[in-house]
Parts: sequence; C-alpha cells; structure tokens
Amino acid sequence: MKIKTSKIAIVGCGLVGSSTAFSLVTQGICDEILMIDINEERALGEVLDLRDTIKYLDRNVKVRVAGYKDCSDADIIVITAGAPPQKGQTRLDTLEVSAKIVKTIVDPIMASGFDGIFIVVSNPVDIMAHYVYQLSGLPKNQVIGTGSALDTSRLQNFIAELVNVDPRSIYAYSMGEHGDSQMVPWSTVTVAGKPFQDIIHDNKDMLGDVDLDEIVKKTVREGWEIYQRKGTTYYGIATTCAGIIKAILYDENRIIPVSTLLEGEYGQNGVYAGVPTILNRTGAADILEIHMTEEELERFRSSAEIIREYTDKVLK
Ligand code: 2OP
Repeated sequence: MKIKTSKIAIVGCGLVGSSTAFSLVTQGICDEILMIDINEERALGEVLDLRDTIKYLDRNVKVRVAGYKDCSDADIIVITAGAPPQKGQTRLDTLEVSAKIVKTIVDPIMASGFDGIFIVVSNPVDIMAHYVYQLSGLPKNQVIGTGSALDTSRLQNFIAELVNVDPRSIYAYSMGEHGDSQMVPWSTVTVAGKPFQDIIHDNKDMLGDVDLDEIVKKTVREGWEIYQRKGTTYYGIATTCAGIIKAILYDENRIIPVSTLLEGEYGQNGVYAGVPTILNRTGAADILEIHMTEEELERFRSSAEIIREYTDKVLK
C-alpha cells in the first residue's frame, strides 16, 4: 500500500514561482514540488538552490525539474507565467499576451491527464482563472485564482496600523477585481468582532476623520508602490498562494477571498471575481455570500462588470 504524498507543480520559475516554492519548502506544506519553466536551466537553478535549504528545515520536501507530462498525478498546479505590466500599464493591459502564454501551458497539462486543482496567479488573474476554467474543462471548484486574497492582506495591514492591532485580528475582505475596481464592504469589517465603523466613530478624537475610500485606494496602489521600488512583487503573492495550497491540501475549510466562478452570488453570473470562498480538499468548495449594503453591492457589481468586459475579449 503506497501512502499518497502531496505533489505541487509550479509553472513559471520566475520570482513569483520560485518564491512560492520557497514558501512551500520552508513551511513544509507539501511532499514534492515540480518546477516547470520553458527555460529549463532557470528551473534547474531554482531546484538546486531550494535543495540547499532542506538541511536546516523540518521537512525534506523533494524538489525537481519537471515537464507538463509529469503533471498527470499532481494534486495542485500553480500557474505563475504571464506578461508583467509595462510602465503605465494596468494588469488588464497584459491580457492578450498572458492569455497566449496560459494557453500554451494548459493544453499540454490537460493532455497529460491532469485532474487536480489549478491555482492561477497570472494577471489579470480573474480573467486568466476564467480562461483556464474554459480551456481545462475542469469543474469550477478545481480552477481558482488568487483573486483578492493578496489585496485583503494589504487591506488588513492598513486597518491594523490605524487601530494598532495585529493584522490577523482584523476581519475584512477586499472583493471583486484584483485591480483598480476592487471594493471593500466596510459594513462587514470588524476588529476581532467589533464593527470597524463603530471603532472609528467612537474614537474620532484619536483617529480623526478616517477616509475609507483612501484606505481602498492605498490597497489598490500597494502593488504599484512595491513594483516601483523593487521592479515586481513576489513575497506577498507567493505566501498568499502557499496559504491557499495549505487550505486545500489540509482540507481546512478555510475562508479566503480567492477568485472563483460566480453563478448567481451577489447577483452575478458567469464571472470570476474575488469573494470569500470556503477552501478544502475539493478546491473552491463553496462561496460564503456575506451581507452587503445596496451601495456595496452596486460597487461589487461594477467591479464584476469590468472583469466581465475583459473576460469577453478572451473567452471563445
Ligand atoms: C500584486 O498585486 C502581482 O498582482 C500582484 O502584487
């Protein structure tokens, strides 16, 4: 009897893909990692470097260079390959080039017989996740985008700084597009269960007039703030991806705002968007539809419409 070990394939060994692998290895989240890249030398370089960490870690995660044909029994495949936005571009502007790259990845993976879960990181991630869903023909629960999970981490940091509380005690979601039109349902935000809007109302003298729209703008801008200083982002998105993988591999039923296919939730149908989603060994098991005010629902709708507009440019 062979004990089932967990196998993760990472397609794209650039800074995001290699940082995702590093996060998985240092946390000991899975048993084996396949590193796949069109530049095999780059993949090998990452594998050799990652192997040098094992001696000083708790688990011996096996890492090796692989190809699409090795994906048939992978539990999860992470797609990080895509076109980085050029100066002045938004993530949406990289749509055409990213779609071409993603198609060259998904087709051979499906030909290998893969029947696991895709986690799409490539931007524009909501549209790329939908495109992978269409290309793969897999059930929607098996095709997930990182969505607004990273934005949510950034949002919680800003709120935590304001009220001087650990970000992990903030309950807040950024939702909709992983991009400029994302929105925050402020009526649902709490600090360890206490409504955030009560906190800022009751502490005006200490906090001053808190501009909620400004916090959303900072959350939207954070990716660019990092990008302008170090040329790209990778630790945040990589660790977000590792957290999503852990929720799936460990069957956690953890709620993370990943990008998943809406089929009526929040009045939206047939669009991928970042919404609080229950993640377990089946992937995106269910959507936890939180209560929003009419005004918040309208903002979510307009974000979903922007995603849909760009999705229609790619889906055949
Ligand atoms: C970010 O916001 C790469 O889109 C990713 O950092």
